[in-house]
Amino acid sequence: MAEPRIIAVLGATGSQGGGLVRAILADPEGGFVARAITRDPSSDAARALADVGVEIVQADITDIDSLIAAFDGAYGAYCVTNYWEILDPEQEIAQAANIARAVTAAGVKHVIWSSLEDTRNWVPLTDERMPTIAGKYKVPHYDTKGESEHYFVESGVPTTFLMTSFYWENMIYFGLGPHPGPDGTLLLSLPLGSAVLPGIAAVDIGANAYEIFREGAPKTTDRIGIAGEHLTGEQMAESLTRALGRPVRYNGVSADAFRAFGFPGAEDLGNMFQFLQEFTDYVTTAHPVAATAARHPGLMTFDEWLAQNANRIPLD
Ligand SMILES: NC(=O)c1ccc[n+]([C@@H]2O[C@H](COP(=O)([O-])OP(=O)(O)OC[C@H]3O[C@@H](n4cnc5c(N)ncnc54)[C@H](OP(=O)(O)O)[C@@H]3O)[C@@H](O)[C@H]2O)c1
Repeated sequence: MAEPRIIAVLGATGSQGGGLVRAILADPEGGFVARAITRDPSSDAARALADVGVEIVQADITDIDSLIAAFDGAYGAYCVTNYWEILDPEQEIAQAANIARAVTAAGVKHVIWSSLEDTRNWVPLTDERMPTIAGKYKVPHYDTKGESEHYFVESGVPTTFLMTSFYWENMIYFGLGPHPGPDGTLLLSLPLGSAVLPGIAAVDIGANAYEIFREGAPKTTDRIGIAGEHLTGEQMAESLTRALGRPVRYNGVSADAFRAFGFPGAEDLGNMFQFLQEFTDYVTTAHPVAATAARHPGLMTFDEWLAQNANRIPLD
């Protein structure tokens, strides 16, 4: 049998890359092995991967030489940056540029770049329907990823731009789940109007990425959008009500009100929800559920995700 091909995984200790590593491990005859890239091989998450036999390589996206070494000999590379750790669009773009240079130098055959829309193609900076952030962005954590695609195009390395969706885990880790309103009723406060939100279980992003590696590299680039379900605020509230055994009401706040919530990234996320709401036809077409489920039949619905995770959603 041919040697298994190595998929080098950035973010292997996190949600997206972790899902990919799990998908590779779950298919030992699939012809691929995972190489987990981490800044800290001694972390609990890295050690847990080492314990199940995953190769661990230390590298930092900000250190190009370490990245080139980490990609050396790999057939594929899953590439993701973590905007929310740095909260700095320019740094995230610089990280993407480093990654593209490193995959080129290492001769990687198929890259998946975890991308998102550059919303400025829909809402130019001159458009005042939403504030411009940091002088150059509408939705910084989206725009940076979309803008960075050109580095991969220019690299010539066959690259799939994977257009991910809102993780339902944001209800656990990002405070975007239901919270008690003034009368104690749980309110799911999102600025979605009556539009649907393409959402996904984070682990299903990696599972899709695995199938994309199995399908093979594009000649130059391609673009694949994914989602687990498209749900309105009302529908999510109904599912939450069933799963939590407590009434949850959708509270369709305005994007302005959401931006004023004041937590770090509130403006960015307020603009994101406004983009998702106002361009719902594009968004739902570009993040199709049926194609995602056809690629990965284990794709979870929101109800299935809630059955496993509802008790992890903080309700205070
Ligand atoms: N939340 C959502 O709904 C959503 C939806 C779509 C896209 N996204 C995007 O997803 C990205 C985050 O991905 P995630 O949720 O999978 O991350 P995560 O679970 O928060 O984990 C972050 C991962 O990034 C790695 N990492 C961070 N900085 C690094 C560096 N300098 N060098 C090497 N590795 C580094 C970490 O590895 P070590 O700590 O082990 O080094 C860790 O594995 C963000 O950019 C966000 O915009 C989020």
